[in-house]
Amino acid sequence: MAQSFDVVVIGAGPAGYVAAIRAAQLGFSVACIDNWKNAKGEYALGGTCLNVGCIPSKALLCSSENFERVTHRFATHGISVSGARMDVKKMQARKDAIVAQLTGGIQMLFRKNKVAWLKGRGHLSAAGERYRIEVAGASGKETVDAANVIIATGSTPRELPGVPVDNILICDNVGALAFREVPRRLGVVGAGVIGLELGSVWRRLGAKVTILEALPTFLAACDDAVSKEAWKLFTKEQGLAIRLGAKIGKVTPDKKGVKVEFADGEGERSIEFDKLVVSVGRVPNSAGVGAESVGLKIDEGGFIDVDAHCKTNLPNVYAIGDVVRGPMLAHKGMDEGVMVAEHIASQAGHVNLDVIPWVIYTAPEIAWVGKTEQQLKADGTAYRIGQVPYLANGRALGQDETTGFVKVLADAKTDRVLGVHIISSHASELIAEAVMAMEFRASSEDVARICHAHPSLSEVMHEAALAVDKRALHI
Ligand code: FAD
Ligand code: NAI
Repeated sequence: MAQSFDVVVIGAGPAGYVAAIRAAQLGFSVACIDNWKNAKGEYALGGTCLNVGCIPSKALLCSSENFERVTHRFATHGISVSGARMDVKKMQARKDAIVAQLTGGIQMLFRKNKVAWLKGRGHLSAAGERYRIEVAGASGKETVDAANVIIATGSTPRELPGVPVDNILICDNVGALAFREVPRRLGVVGAGVIGLELGSVWRRLGAKVTILEALPTFLAACDDAVSKEAWKLFTKEQGLAIRLGAKIGKVTPDKKGVKVEFADGEGERSIEFDKLVVSVGRVPNSAGVGAESVGLKIDEGGFIDVDAHCKTNLPNVYAIGDVVRGPMLAHKGMDEGVMVAEHIASQAGHVNLDVIPWVIYTAPEIAWVGKTEQQLKADGTAYRIGQVPYLANGRALGQDETTGFVKVLADAKTDRVLGVHIISSHASELIAEAVMAMEFRASSEDVARICHAHPSLSEVMHEAALAVDKRALHI
């Protein structure tokens, strides 16, 4: 007989595992189905984020940044180091250990919360009073039934026609996080978040990195002031070669590497690389969930169609995370997981898609929340700006981290904070204050009247809020 659950979650990435844990906390019987297998061929929880996304990329970013600090930045502190070398295998082993610790941690959380982990591919096969889900795993097929279903099947890398990813020579994020040695010449297609983060990792370790970006503008989603500053830092100071407006032509793998033909403003050309990373966005993973068997609505982009509370067109079936509209970010998926579990328990829950922070973990980091200046202009919203650099901040000077600025955008009439844009070290941590301010509908004056620790990088946020009203004290 089929096992029965109150809630079955398909997918154990950050959206799915959080939904499963929260539903279990609320007293439901819960199963979570996942088909992820790690490099050892073992089933693993955590999805893209923990296995081949957020967590391993941040581990490599930290290792490579430490290497760059030792080799280029320590001298100014009077620390001289000679013969610094990077052991890539050891760096990768550290990253793998972090991934194993965290994915194992979710197994532990599932046990603690009595979430049943069903290993295999799940799909909806019948709808009625309850839903039937088939699970195809290593030990054959099993069927479970559920009163409520949460689909959290995530996303996969978008492929380029004629560019076959083998994750050895031509890689998506999976291969690009696992190089065993530093490629001498690394090509990256797409100057988005993955291209910049992973391009930075391998550049810091010695690769000559060329990024080919289709759009004529750099970091189009960021505030223009941030994109301009980032362009200057990443290209001129750090040496990432970024070619905008690049139209990729033939990509030919051969024994020496991979030849990429492309055309840009300077005409047609080709470059030989030792390895190529393709990072041109991700697509929702909605095929294979059994949508056609139960009449689940999928939109034109392949996203499962949901309302503001992640309800699909089917009663008691929800979808969350990368497989639905909104930014493809782990924290957005986790928040949706909590919201949906609480809705199933007849509680209230809400995710405000207008106040989701974004972070790009380059050095300096880029973080933002809310509207950019160009969006406010396009919307016809009158605004005031407070923009303050880190240059004169005591903590930034002490830490040798004076690059960048905070830009606060506030409504000209009400003073409500509409957007905050940061490019600086630790921007990923600093943005939390802005998110809090915006969720509480704070004005720039509210932020300006809050006491900020001295000396700290957060004082630049304080000064930027003061600068909105032209009363910054230290610039
Ligand atoms: P996923 O994490 O993709 O998980 C979906 C799970 O469902 C997978 O385990 C999959 O195997 C499983 N699955 C799919 N179909 C089925 C099925 N039919 N049956 C059973 N199981 C199934 N986001 C951030 O917020 N911060 C970052 O720093 C960040 N860094 C990133 C770095 C990289 C290199 C990449 C690629 C992504 C990064 N992201 C980051 C994005 C983040 O990883 C995703 O937004 C997040 O993982 C989405 O979570 P999810 O639960 O929706 O899906
Ligand atoms: P992306 O959407 O960030 O960037 C893709 C880039 O590729 C864009 O600039 C796009 O214009 C370009 N592009 C598209 N087609 C192209 C083509 N044919 N030739 C050249 N360039 C082309 O996508 P990316 O970097 O693949 O990352 C996927 C998603 O994963 C991100 O959007 C984000 O949601 C998530 N992510 C988040 C991170 C974070 O939060 N720090 C880190 C990494 C990924």
